[in-house]
Amino acid sequence: MTAFADCKACVFDAYGTLLNVHAATARESAALGPLAQPLSDLWRRKQLEYTWLRSLMGAYVDFWQVTQDALDFAMETHAIEAPALRRRLLDLYWTLEAYPDAAGTLARLQAGGKKTAILTNGAPAMIEAACKANDLDRQLDRILTVAPLGIYKPDASVYSLAVTGMEAEASEICFVSANAWDARGAACFGFTVAWLDRFGKLPDRLPGAFAAEIRDLAALPPLLGL
Ligand code: LAC
Repeated sequence: MTAFADCKACVFDAYGTLLNVHAATARESAALGPLAQPLSDLWRRKQLEYTWLRSLMGAYVDFWQVTQDALDFAMETHAIEAPALRRRLLDLYWTLEAYPDAAGTLARLQAGGKKTAILTNGAPAMIEAACKANDLDRQLDRILTVAPLGIYKPDASVYSLAVTGMEAEASEICFVSANAWDARGAACFGFTVAWLDRFGKLPDRLPGAFAAEIRDLAALPPLLGL
């Protein structure tokens, strides 16, 4: 028996967990050369920082705007002036590739009688397009976004969307995120959390205890007895 034995639903973070946020710059690696990874890393870092800072400032704009602002900052930092490339990178964000373990895991969870959902900062149209592009939409019972709240993770109100949306107690929700800060926030809220440590990183020194640490999504169904 694991801490996950009583979980009725599995709720996933999207960007970085199911979807590879570095897929857009990877697709444009010929144009970006050695700047592909540094640009991608800064784009992602600023995207997250802007969600946290805007939440603190009470100055919400949706994740699509944040994603564009972060890319513009990152491109300017690296002195990349290329409007057509900017457009292509942003277009690619709508069809970001899913990690290869995502579809199979979602299918296995559903076949085992677990409800599945995404809980994301992403704007509804963005995340729905990316799920459709990867054929994940059929394997998800719900796609929950911060749009009705106008504030980002790790605000507790975001996690409460899953309690309402999945009709389950917080402890009955298995929450999975590759973003350690998100996993910590979810654990503080009361979810049963598996931190997906895809790249062997140190977990953030924040409150919120993980019930499990896994290296890929295939390790999740066995935790739930599947
Ligand atoms: C999300 C961000 C945290 O999908 O990646 O919510």
